[in-house]
Amino acid sequence: MGKQSLETPFLNPAEDTKTRSKWRPTIWFFISLISITFLCYTVGGKLSPLSLNGWKEETQSDGIVESLEAVVAADDARCSEIGASVLKDGGHAVDAAVAVALCGGVVNPMASGIGGGGFMVVRSADTSQTQAFDFRETAPAAASQNMYQNNLDEKYNGALAMGVPGEIAGLYEAWLKYGRRPWKELFQPAIRLVKDGFLVAPYLANSLSGNADTIMKDPGLRHVYAPNGKVLQAGETCYNHQLGLSLEAIAEGGPEALYNGAIGEKLISDVQSGGGILTMDDMRNYKVKVTDAVEVNTMGFTILGMPPPSSGTLGLAMVLNILNGYEDTNGAKGALGLHRFIEALKHMFSYRINLGDPDFVDISKTTSDMLSPSFADKIRKRIFDNTTFPSEYYLPRWSQIQDHGTSHFCIVDADRNALSMTTTVNYPFGGGVLSQATGILLNNEMADFSVPTEVSPDSLPPSPTNFIRPNKRPLSSMTPIIIVKDDQLAGVLGGSGGLYIIPAVIQVFLNHFVLGMEPLDAIQSPRVYHKLMPNVVYYENWTMIDGDHIELSNYRKKFLKERGHQLESKAGGGVSQLIIQTLNKPIENRKMSYNHKQVLKGMLTAVSDPRKDGKPAAC
Ligand SMILES: *[C@@H]1O[C@H](CO)[C@@H](O)[C@H](O)[C@H]1NC(C)=O
Ligand SMILES: *[C@@H]1O[C@H](CO)[C@@H](O)[C@H](O)[C@H]1NC(C)=O
Repeated sequence: MGKQSLETPFLNPAEDTKTRSKWRPTIWFFISLISITFLCYTVGGKLSPLSLNGWKEETQSDGIVESLEAVVAADDARCSEIGASVLKDGGHAVDAAVAVALCGGVVNPMASGIGGGGFMVVRSADTSQTQAFDFRETAPAAASQNMYQNNLDEKYNGALAMGVPGEIAGLYEAWLKYGRRPWKELFQPAIRLVKDGFLVAPYLANSLSGNADTIMKDPGLRHVYAPNGKVLQAGETCYNHQLGLSLEAIAEGGPEALYNGAIGEKLISDVQSGGGILTMDDMRNYKVKVTDAVEVNTMGFTILGMPPPSSGTLGLAMVLNILNGYEDTNGAKGALGLHRFIEALKHMFSYRINLGDPDFVDISKTTSDMLSPSFADKIRKRIFDNTTFPSEYYLPRWSQIQDHGTSHFCIVDADRNALSMTTTVNYPFGGGVLSQATGILLNNEMADFSVPTEVSPDSLPPSPTNFIRPNKRPLSSMTPIIIVKDDQLAGVLGGSGGLYIIPAVIQVFLNHFVLGMEPLDAIQSPRVYHKLMPNVVYYENWTMIDGDHIELSNYRKKFLKERGHQLESKAGGGVSQLIIQTLNKPIENRKMSYNHKQVLKGMLTAVSDPRKDGKPAAC
């Protein structure tokens, strides 16, 4: 199908924590090879594109690739490779994003899918313009502030928890602006995976067994993920034939098929018979919001990310501005830097919960404060190097939203266009319902709204700026960012894991861009998390699928304890993908004639987080 006008209303048109198992990554490559047409480099070595019947030992890797051409860092090897093959065919980063996102929805259905929504940041190398695409799920027109007052469970479970899905509309909107490859072509790898069957990865297998009750309770989920009466295990083949048909219809007919056509009607019918309130009008009225990215200048970098209703970029800005103001050369360094980071994080969480959808509530003061270095100066004065404080000290007014799930990927194409996308169905397997007529998993994004009657474990009241209104979007923690230095691309970063996203992304950013760690170390280095309430520092202590153990050092634990932090071991947290560009020996220095800008091309390094067993790919 051709490109359509941006003006037509609708035509503008997933944390997973637990994992453990034995697995041989080589099997992965075999499957990848038969499921895609072309390979660039894959992890750790160059594969012959035609060696469809085997794989080479050297393709096993530690999750890092380098390339002077183009790279993809997704949280699944197959999706990274699918994205790299689109780039190899001359695709724009946005073309690759369409294929990678659809792949993610198939192979990691607990985290994301076309029944969900998300955020995408795209920086165009030639113009240096960076756009933010907001395709977050939206409250249906029939939604209301008190809709869950009689049964709070329905905010989380079942079809009533569903917001209007945005993923297909968002991908399409970005593709209309930047895409070079045919829309339909970008769907083919995901369609093949879901129709021919794909191998259940250890990570998905763990999520399936961890959510077995949810899977077994719902006929749609059971049919796809427990076809033989128990949930699929690692290495078994999974099919979702109906989803394949839905993807084919959307490949052929564009988003119209979902938002104003037969697939949408079948989906809405399933949602309504499950007790949901979504209508075809909600689908037709869904709009992607496209704005300039939020720009944060701190620590010598320009960071570009999402405006609210994401609290991610603002939260990151506030914490980095606090750390940036320390007089010693590097306020974020060492165990003391970690303590300061945790303190900054606690203030940030207290503050960010005042945010909401800017189309419905006035959050201009909160927004400008969170971006303001002088506001950060005031907060820094309340942080002490020798101690931490009880939660009340950080002036928490409202309870946090416990968002979940999610998938993140980073892409840089051969022209150095850069893309950072985070997408989700909210909780693992969303609302726990799979539409049988379409194969589409229903998100439970309504869970990210605050509701007046909800008594939270931290005993704080819910945040009024985040109350439900028809057509409103709930607050999010997703933090897809692009990092620029001296007007050249320096990196792409983001993460998944709900409330853990902001701390994970900040730690990876600091590790590499400020503390100078190599990209893989920056990702693998043990992290800490804090939610403000309870007043506990969660430190990583867990073993990855590949057998590596990640644990905060005893020295750092002791240092934090001495300052009064209460520590708790955690086998989980955020998952992060990172791409960096090294410009010390650029291979090309392209001068744009119309604006005299130069685009430097240096070595790209892409890393996928071992916490989700991801692998990057390059060409
Ligand atoms: C921390 O240092 C400040 C001075 O900077 C001092 O007033 C305070 O008593 C110290 N607190 C602890 C717990 O040592
Ligand atoms: C780390 O986790 C393991 C379980 O995986 C547990 O046995 C151990 O006690 C933990 N270590 C610390 C220091 O909490």
